[in-house]
Amino acid sequence: MDKPKVVLGVSGGIAAYKACELLRRFTESGHDVRVVPTASALHFVGAATWSALSGNPVATDVWEDVHEVPHVRIGQHADLVVVAPATADTLARAAHGLANDLLTNTLLTARCPVVFAPAMHTEMWEHPATRENVATLRRRGSVVIEPAVGRLTGVDTGKGRLPDPAEIFEVCRRVLARGTTGPDLAGRHVVVSAGGTREPLDPVRFLGNRSSGKQGYALARTAAARGARVTLIAANTSLPDPAGVDVVPVGTAVQLREAVLKAAADADAVVMAAAVADFRPASYATGKIKKKDGQEPEPVVLVRNPDVLAEISAERARTGQVIVGFAAETDEVLANGRAKLSRKGCDLLVVNEVGERKTFGAEENEAVVLGADGSETPVPHGPKEALADTVWDLVRERLA
Ligand code: CTP
Repeated sequence: MDKPKVVLGVSGGIAAYKACELLRRFTESGHDVRVVPTASALHFVGAATWSALSGNPVATDVWEDVHEVPHVRIGQHADLVVVAPATADTLARAAHGLANDLLTNTLLTARCPVVFAPAMHTEMWEHPATRENVATLRRRGSVVIEPAVGRLTGVDTGKGRLPDPAEIFEVCRRVLARGTTGPDLAGRHVVVSAGGTREPLDPVRFLGNRSSGKQGYALARTAAARGARVTLIAANTSLPDPAGVDVVPVGTAVQLREAVLKAAADADAVVMAAAVADFRPASYATGKIKKKDGQEPEPVVLVRNPDVLAEISAERARTGQVIVGFAAETDEVLANGRAKLSRKGCDLLVVNEVGERKTFGAEENEAVVLGADGSETPVPHGPKEALADTVWDLVRERLA
């Protein structure tokens, strides 16, 4: 089978050096990559580096190898074009359909999915001109990944950092896997909760659970690759931030509730993949609880936590908002799932069977998605991203 053909456009920002790592990920996973830098990108990383790492010739303008008509061929033959970093200038030229170098010619001739990973100073990213260019590119079907927040060139920090190359690669992998289906969640805001809450007993101890957050992160990552604006409410996870996703860290169920309600206010869909503790210790000791010689420990008294899923389902922040719950069951999986779906009042419930070695921390998952309309969608054993895509397919069908 032919290797998938990827065009890696690199524009002139300091983050160009991070594109070397992205390129390496593509080549090592069996992609044929043609790097098309802009002339200014070459101020940061030279053509020899791109050529050696990709094993392909490198050109920035349309005047080299003219007999091969590169300004048309490269774009026409691509399975994916990714521009990383995409500067304000490159976004502007792409949005306006300019064709003044090889990269912009390639963007005009490509009929495959296109991903932009912008990187620039916060002021440039927030400028109305850039906002409008990004909106134009998204409206035309490109995936424009939100920049990360953090250290920028010089002394500045803020939004505008290129996301981690490993995470940009994940977005590209998902976009490639979906082919020309297009970013079908563009213009949508989705909220995903992930991980497991921790309910503190004292400053060093908590009641927690074994949720790794991987399924929630897969949901966030796949939604971003499908063009959605994603807010990920992450409870005690230790996973890298998915590219383009707004991550809100939380600790307890009460904090998670607050973060979910806030993000859900303007969301089209909320997916509650987090394992939320049903109970928390009734009291919190501000000092470490000490054992006392010859004395039995005090029993731990628990109180109920709010049920976030039931609450957001009963009081929808917006009409037509789609709400998805998760259920981990050990016995009578489907019957318990149906009962839970109607008790919680959500639109969809993803039912997993869990046990000693099932689901927690695993890379793969198997589930049945139950719909409030009586539907039942089995998802065979496979990557957590496949389940995530099925969930988004079902959510999309239900969005008005
Ligand atoms: N959930 C929630 N708030 C809670 C508990 C759970 O929002 N306090 C959400 C979870 O995020 C998940 C779903 O509810 O989407 C299922 O949670 P689960 O604990 O399995 O359901 P319970 O109603 O607690 O049922 P049981 O413990 O009896 O199985």
